[in-house]
Amino acid sequence: MRLADKVALVTGAARGIGRGIALRFADEGAHVVVAELDVDTAQVTVGEVEAKGRRALAVECNVTQAASVQAAVDRALDEFGRIDILVNNAGTGQRVVETVDLDEAEWDRVLAVNITGVFLCSKYVGRQMMRQDSGKIINLSSINGISGPPLVSAYNAAKWAVIGFTKTLAVELAPYHVNVNAICPGPVDTDFQKANMAERAAVMGIPEADLRERLRQSVPLGRWTRPADIASAATFLASDDSVHMTGEHLVVSGGLGGVSGVAPKRRDIA
Ligand SMILES: NC(=O)c1ccc[n+]([C@@H]2O[C@H](COP(=O)([O-])OP(=O)(O)OC[C@H]3O[C@@H](n4cnc5c(N)ncnc54)[C@H](O)[C@@H]3O)[C@@H](O)[C@H]2O)c1
Repeated sequence: MRLADKVALVTGAARGIGRGIALRFADEGAHVVVAELDVDTAQVTVGEVEAKGRRALAVECNVTQAASVQAAVDRALDEFGRIDILVNNAGTGQRVVETVDLDEAEWDRVLAVNITGVFLCSKYVGRQMMRQDSGKIINLSSINGISGPPLVSAYNAAKWAVIGFTKTLAVELAPYHVNVNAICPGPVDTDFQKANMAERAAVMGIPEADLRERLRQSVPLGRWTRPADIASAATFLASDDSVHMTGEHLVVSGGLGGVSGVAPKRRDIA
């Protein structure tokens, strides 16, 4: 077990990628705090972690609100006394729309969750990690944080910002033995991605199934990314195996984010 008795706070872990990370961390021996807007569904993740024999706690938290974040961190510390790992996973998609038609309110909403939320959680947990003189912070960016697909400019801007923020925080927290890294997932078929696909297909005027298949074919390794793929990278970044890495971003996308072109068809080699 690579995370035996570590305490991890994972934001947005009621579902999707965050839930996958929480469950994998429990398999690796960690106790998990699920900091969530949707605290009822977070209780389901808590039950799943407890079923693996680890301790877990759901705390209501809106990552866009400083007071809410501070209260959630205090509650986690009351319960566990320390936070070894922070995963800034809570995120939101945006309306699929050209930038010239994007509402200012939608821009603000997307930036608030996807980058201000990362700042606030890092600020309040970061102070505790400085006191501890140790910690791991893992920020969820995206392949959109290293590229620029059309119709989601607020989301892309936020995910690029996550990588820049990661680098600065990594240097600031280095004297306290806190590693700060990011993960850039390719498309994962979660609730948020389902909504994005449906809206994008409608805007493009093509069947959603065609869009999904087109996307799958563009992945050199031939399938969508899964929560378990991201959980593997998060486990590596949360463990001592990555002790000499900070300010980095790991791209986990089956090759989609790192290359261009389509993989050649398989052939038999004599
Ligand atoms: N799904 C993908 O294709 C994909 C790809 C790249 C990156 N990501 C990133 O991974 C992260 C997780 O995405 P997902 O697909 O699992 O999303 P999801 O929609 O399935 O889950 C997101 C969770 O975050 C919670 N949340 C939303 N706003 C919150 C807030 N203000 N405070 C607290 N919790 C909040 C939601 O309640 C939800 O449980 C996000 O940061 C997302 O941008 C996702």
